Amino acid sequence: MKVYSESELIREHINLWKSNGEKIVLVPTMGHLHKGHASLIELAKSLGQRVLVSIFVNPLQFNQESDFTRYPRTLESDIEQLLTLNVDAVFTPSTESLYPHGIQSAPKIIIPELTEEFDGHYRPRHFEGVCTVVCKLFNILTPDVVVFGNKDYQQLLIIRRMVDDLNFNIDIVAGNTERESDGLAMSSRNTHLTPDQRVVAKHLYANLTQVKTQFLPSEVLSLESSARANLEAVGMTVEYFSIRDAVNLQPIDNNTKNVVVLTAAWLGDTRLIDNILFPMP
Ligand code: PAF
Repeated sequence: MKVYSESELIREHINLWKSNGEKIVLVPTMGHLHKGHASLIELAKSLGQRVLVSIFVNPLQFNQESDFTRYPRTLESDIEQLLTLNVDAVFTPSTESLYPHGIQSAPKIIIPELTEEFDGHYRPRHFEGVCTVVCKLFNILTPDVVVFGNKDYQQLLIIRRMVDDLNFNIDIVAGNTERESDGLAMSSRNTHLTPDQRVVAKHLYANLTQVKTQFLPSEVLSLESSARANLEAVGMTVEYFSIRDAVNLQPIDNNTKNVVVLTAAWLGDTRLIDNILFPMP
């Protein structure tokens, strides 16, 4: 496994693989790898001959400086894990190489739809940062397939939209959310939780599964508000808890085939997000 920080060098390697007809699968990450990433990597291995993992904590997608600064950075142990996972190459670019003229002067990718609500609303310009960096990674690494986690469901839909609208010849594949034994979705941010908060955190998924079990189209508003109240009662500050159409994130209607329930809540200084998907009954 080779670790590259220079775009030119990893590109040479990728071109060699491509000239042998090998399919390149990318798993983009911000590092601090956990079992959730490992499962995306296993999925990636089944989709092509060469698996690349990128590790870059992208300053452009953090709307709070403090969140960016305290984001866990564990490059050495990440690389050890990637060795055991038999990844073919790792890309760890510097901020200067991705934003050669500075972050502010970089051209930005703005997707006008799907971004107004939820994380787009609570984290202004977050998706602009995500799409811009993902677009850069696509240009540098020219993957055939890219794997994203279902956990960031809104991000997944926005990236698919970007791929369509910017005519990338790339397949986007979604990997399942990996969970701890009590249901908490695996996330690099979970390490910020205190032991007490860690116990409370399980309520997020418990409420999502409860909505799935009790779902009736006529009960959407009451299910949303009782889940919110449950979460607030255990000490979370809920940003959103919404039942939507899984295709366009709009309120469900007669055309809805699949439902997504999306939530984001704060536990102390830590923001957790999660979702659950199910077919319209
Ligand atoms: O989901 C993430 O980890 C990040 O948003 C991504 C896609 C790696 C872009 O920085």
